Amino acid sequence: MLVRRNDLFIRHECGEATIPQIAVWRADSYAREYEQIFGALPDLLQVPRSGGPVTDREAASAWSGLTDAQREDVTRVFVNIGKAIAAYERRIEFGASRFDKYVNAVTTGQSDPNILTDNEIAGLRLFIGRANCTQCHSGPLPTSNEFHNTGVPPRPQLAIDHGRLTGATAVLSDEFNCRSQWSDTRARCSELEFIVTGEHTLDRAHKVPSLRNVAERAPYMDAGQFATLAEVLDHYNRAPAAPTGHSELRRLRLKPVELRQLEAFLRTLSGPVALANLLLPAARNDRDCRSRRSRHRNRRARARHQRSSARPACSRRLGFCRRASSATSSEDFA
Ligand code: HEC
Repeated sequence: MLVRRNDLFIRHECGEATIPQIAVWRADSYAREYEQIFGALPDLLQVPRSGGPVTDREAASAWSGLTDAQREDVTRVFVNIGKAIAAYERRIEFGASRFDKYVNAVTTGQSDPNILTDNEIAGLRLFIGRANCTQCHSGPLPTSNEFHNTGVPPRPQLAIDHGRLTGATAVLSDEFNCRSQWSDTRARCSELEFIVTGEHTLDRAHKVPSLRNVAERAPYMDAGQFATLAEVLDHYNRAPAAPTGHSELRRLRLKPVELRQLEAFLRTLSGPVALANLLLPAARNDRDCRSRRSRHRNRRARARHQRSSARPACSRRLGFCRRASSATSSEDFA
């Protein structure tokens, strides 16, 4: 998190009802870091503390009283903070879990019987076999990065969330989307170009999450509907009808012992969390963002990182690769 010497006023787009309309950043200690990456901070001393592009009348009127240049200055800082947080999140990597060690041993022919227990291996077999989890949870993370309706019940007291059905339309009109003036990847927005909207199948479809370190981050699902992994697995086993739209799950009819084995397997996906030592390129469309020298440095560092994290042997049979990182494709930020 960043920013500035004086009080700074930032637009907040994440939901007007529950989140303050204007975040005031008093982060003197981050001004230097901000300016190193993005260039000089604008002078926003004249920007009223209460202004914001929100429905609150007073805030909206203070916001519309600003000059175009002031609004652009505030928005630019807001966008840059978002990019800094996203860049930081991309550095978060998962180190080798017990499961990675097991796959490593299997794919190099050095099977070590002590890495996973019999129950965990039985759970893995169910995961890639009868329980059909790899239909959606595949690859190193493991997720297909697609959207599916899995019949998850709504959370009491919360309005029904239609997931991708409303999300796909919202992202198309979002002023900060991949095609916006603030984007660094405007030339590569295929996700928005080919995005499907308005289809019944999108109703209550949510993005398939990674299962790396899943045992460490209860509660589960988009609104924390399930408190434990056992509850998640019970849901998959029963495959109830979706509250709206159509669930893609089928009943699994697994026995209690098999559900416990699946859970034991999910727990083998936990590994240490670390920050990749990676120099990230700064925003490309930001005028004062970086010197030619640092551009070269970043390019070299990225190439080094890509070489070092090139995925080693994958087991087609298991549907996984040996080592995985949390890094996701740039399209995730569409
Ligand atoms: C049809 C696609 C699909 C299949 C098959 C599927 N999942 Fe999922 N999984 C999802 C989606 C989508 C979510 C997120 C749902 C939400 O956020 O409401 C999810 C969420 C989860 C979560 C919660 C993760 C979190 O961080 O909240 C776990 C655990 C999980 N799945 C395990 C499994 C297991 C084990 C199986 C096999 C028994 C399985 N999944 C089969 C699509 C699928």
